[in-house]
Amino acid sequence: MAKSLLRVLAGERLEPPPVWLMRQAGRYLPEYREVRAKAGGFLDLCYQPALAVEVTLQPIRRFGFDAAILFSDILVVPDGLGQAVSFREGDGPRLDPVRTAADLARLDPGRVSRHLAPVYETVAGIRTALPDDVALIGFAGAPWTVATYMVEGASSRDFLEAKGWLYRDPGSFQSLVDLLVEATAVHLIAQIDAGADVVQLFDTWAGVLPEAQFRTFVIEPTRAIVSMVRAAHADVPIVGFPRGAGPLYREYLLETGVTAVSLDTGVPLAWAAEQLQSVAPVQGSLDPVALVAGGVPLRQAVERICSGFGGGPHVFNLGHGILPVTPLEHVAVLVELVRGGSR
Ligand code: CP3
Repeated sequence: MAKSLLRVLAGERLEPPPVWLMRQAGRYLPEYREVRAKAGGFLDLCYQPALAVEVTLQPIRRFGFDAAILFSDILVVPDGLGQAVSFREGDGPRLDPVRTAADLARLDPGRVSRHLAPVYETVAGIRTALPDDVALIGFAGAPWTVATYMVEGASSRDFLEAKGWLYRDPGSFQSLVDLLVEATAVHLIAQIDAGADVVQLFDTWAGVLPEAQFRTFVIEPTRAIVSMVRAAHADVPIVGFPRGAGPLYREYLLETGVTAVSLDTGVPLAWAAEQLQSVAPVQGSLDPVALVAGGVPLRQAVERICSGFGGGPHVFNLGHGILPVTPLEHVAVLVELVRGGSR
């Protein structure tokens, strides 16, 4: 197996570790902004395979990352279910909120794989274009995180509507989550069928739930998706990113059956090495703002992470997505530091 990411996710310790960055295709790249401008809307870019393949490959060409991540978004799943999604410039996503039984009944899981066919075409196109030693990562949002956008209708600070529903009527909220489990598994399996080597589940808002609800709406649906994906593709690694889970990262790892966990910036390195990396490979947790800062703080942060996780399987990555203000030169320096420029 030549792909370093797959070797590490199979449990091997590699020195230097493979490196890729969450949101590595995006607005910090001038070549992305150029393609984005001619695509029209953001979702138009996601649904035009030739353009989506191109922007996926841009960061690979420029920085030589060890993995490419499909260019798409977690909100293509609600879009596929029939809840129209739009992205307005500088304003984040907008959706017609799903808040009642009637809203739920309008969602159609049968529509997902048909509507998202261009995404699978993109995966196949990336697969063909990608060098043999670069892994291809497919992804989806986890049900809780996607549900927050579906119910709030936009990004949120306090999740009043989504949590309000979950507390008021956990049974019907569970129906929304069940529908998302189904749609998410279908979407991940289709990406693997089209050529993804690895899939990652983004649970960006996992950390805003108390532990009881974390178990029900983060761990349980993730466990169900993992078992459905494994039933179709037993050998494809699944990385979980329950951002903000704190000490619940351990229960998440043990109970969901994910292959590896991606760590947010707040997880202490020594704790993670002992409690998580002893069980499974870990990925993350560089502060995206340290990458914006560059210089000595960046070098120190990279050294801490590489030495903290040097004793086991480790994939170098950020603790959250790269920020649009990140200087290009800092990304090049980061890759050099990880690959041995610092040692
Ligand atoms: O990582 C990659 O390079 C692959 C592509 C990818 C995007 N979004 C492209 C994108 C991935 C993996 C995502 C995941 C995603 N999308 C998450 C989970 C991870 C995280 O960052 O927490 C979430 C919560 C979303 C939902 C979403 N998409 C929001 C809230 C926004 C608007 C905020 C923003 O940054 O503008 C998006 C838009 C989006 N998704 C952009 C990109 C490159 C920017 C859109 C643009 O080009 O204008």
